[in-house]
Amino acid sequence: MSKPTLLIVEDEELIRAQLKCGLRDDFTLLFAEHAREALSALKREQPALVCLDLGLLPDPECAEPGLEALDLIMKAAPQTKVVVLTGNGGRGSAVQLGAFDYHHKPIRLHDLKVALQRAAYFQAIEADVEKQRAGEAATPCEGMLGRTSAMQEIFAVVSRIARTDVTVLIQGESGTGKELLARAIHSNSSRDRRPFVAINCGAIPDTLLESELFGHEKGAYTGAHIQRKGRLELAEGGTLFLDEVGEMSALLQVKLLRFLQERAIERVGGREVLRVDARVVAATNKDLKVELQAGRFREDLYYRLSVVNLTLPPLRNRAEDIVLIANAFLQRSDKQHRRKLRFGSSALEAIIHYAWPGNIRELENAVERGVLMARTKFIEARDLGIEVKNDPDLISLREARNRAERNALVDALAKTRGNITQGARLLAVSRPKLHGLIAKYQVNARDFR
Ligand SMILES: Nc1ncnc2c1ncn2[C@@H]1O[C@H](COP(=O)(O)OP(=O)(O)OP(=O)(O)O)[C@@H](O)[C@H]1O
Ligand SMILES: [Mg+2]
Repeated sequence: MSKPTLLIVEDEELIRAQLKCGLRDDFTLLFAEHAREALSALKREQPALVCLDLGLLPDPECAEPGLEALDLIMKAAPQTKVVVLTGNGGRGSAVQLGAFDYHHKPIRLHDLKVALQRAAYFQAIEADVEKQRAGEAATPCEGMLGRTSAMQEIFAVVSRIARTDVTVLIQGESGTGKELLARAIHSNSSRDRRPFVAINCGAIPDTLLESELFGHEKGAYTGAHIQRKGRLELAEGGTLFLDEVGEMSALLQVKLLRFLQERAIERVGGREVLRVDARVVAATNKDLKVELQAGRFREDLYYRLSVVNLTLPPLRNRAEDIVLIANAFLQRSDKQHRRKLRFGSSALEAIIHYAWPGNIRELENAVERGVLMARTKFIEARDLGIEVKNDPDLISLREARNRAERNALVDALAKTRGNITQGARLLAVSRPKLHGLIAKYQVNARDFR
């Protein structure tokens, strides 16, 4: 990986020399002595980072040259992450003006380096978000973000199967995007001009669910004053989305199985057999295998439903996606509220460390809350309303890389069922390198077979 470019704006020669010596191994360095010089370097080189001394020498033309310079830099290059060096004051105003982080003088090189590396890490993620947004149209699932290999695999399967009529079972915890995925399958199919009809099997009492799904004839039961079509019939030519299918009673499971086998139904209280052409996509946040073993879900129905089985991973296992999706939500919500907000470093740390039990829906709500609660141009951790329990220490860049590397390794092994040759190919590394990674992270390839 190439080194990030860092522009140092510092008018004291001694400090410049100190920084050069301490940072040149990790960054490609540029130097400027004052705001004007900094602006032309920004334009010319577009550095990812700026380290700005707020205590620039007094300039007859402006009262506070450091803050003045920061303001100009933020306006000229809003994507750049600026870490300011401060004496005593100025920190609050610097953060208000858009500085990403600050470092108190005297300079402790190690700490400053960590702050700059963190800034570089987030700058790279934001740059990636931009790239991904530009290429968004390429994914078959509109509005569904994800670059972890598990998500890429799901997108690939959707492209392959959307235009067929196969039944799909989507599994995943609450808020992982099951409904969004079901809609994506529908809109990528040749049925997209016909209805997408959703029904939540867990939210409706059993007797009602039967008539909701299959319809009823006039007089079928007390209160059935008119004949009514069920959701299956309403989905004619289109897709029926059976949400929380694991909640269906034994009786309804039989009726659904019959429909899947014969593509025909009878309305409640009716004798006529009606042919219905609806594709079924089902979803559940239960582990249906467990339901099968406990005898609560029919095995034959399970196999009918899961011709294609897609499992959406929980957000906490999609380390690379969390910040990407959070930023996408921020851009969307910010556009509505017109606040030009960005995440401050404390918010990004919290977003990465939090376990997100409510997955993407919870993230969406937290970001929305952050946009409303932010007091400066930056959303901070407290604005998100989430409580991060594990260690509040900042993770270093190395730790962040290790976590991402381990996740990628585990994903590749899971996908190839522990096959080293295929795993190495997926990760674009040699076999010895893969063995090295397996040893480093103490992962057992056999566990994936
Ligand atoms: N990959 C993704 N990228 C961006 N937004 C997503 C993604 N997945 C889901 N969302 C958004 O997250 C929210 C929750 O998604 P959805 O309703 O599809 O989840 P679900 O699994 O059906 O949840 P539940 O089990 O609670 O019904 C929606 O607002 C959806 O637009
Ligand atoms: Mg849902």
